[in-house]
Amino acid sequence: MKILALIGSPRKGGNTDILVDRILEGSQAKGHTGEKLYLYKYKISPCVDCRKCKKGDYLCPIKDGMQDIYSKMVAADLIIFGTPNYWYGPTGVMKLLIDRMRPFVANSKLRGKKWILVTPAAEGAGVCRPLVQMFRLSFDYLEMKFVGKILVTAFEKGEIGKNQKELNRAYQLGMSLK
Ligand SMILES: Cc1cc2nc3c(=O)[nH]c(=O)nc-3n(C[C@H](O)[C@H](O)[C@H](O)COP(=O)(O)O)c2cc1C
Repeated sequence: MKILALIGSPRKGGNTDILVDRILEGSQAKGHTGEKLYLYKYKISPCVDCRKCKKGDYLCPIKDGMQDIYSKMVAADLIIFGTPNYWYGPTGVMKLLIDRMRPFVANSKLRGKKWILVTPAAEGAGVCRPLVQMFRLSFDYLEMKFVGKILVTAFEKGEIGKNQKELNRAYQLGMSLK
């Protein structure tokens, strides 16, 4: 299986990044391949509701970093969405990406693909409910298949690297992927 991991944290080596690496390591032990993208390195413009993705070739006409990400998403079997909790939602760049996923409503190119959510939050998993619901509703709409989530308590950069229990949980999730 081909896995695409999207990192929506600005912190390379931060909590999201560490957890996603553990999932990828677990999945690699089972023979899956993975690619990780740092969304902050891409230019992702906002969706402008031009509705061009609803007709013709069902593609987004905005020529920016998303075009590369679109092809990688279409090529993947499973997508990991990694975003820290920022004010009870995803980071701005992750929200920009989700808004730009609108072409997939009409072209159905993500239908049946699996997805995972990874979210650290200073206040812990309990405050991630609105964020989780937003992802679930959005990706259910695209007929994607939810396969798991890793929600953890962490604040300082790299702090989760000392939490063996959560690191194992992430690794096990990676190992369980089929
Ligand atoms: C702008 C901003 C807003 C945040 N809002 C919240 C919040 O509402 N609730 C929470 O629990 N943590 C919040 N945090 C803390 C981050 O979720 C936490 O530090 C997380 O571990 C960062 O993950 P990272 O290392 O992958 O970037 C916020 C951090 C920032 C920078």
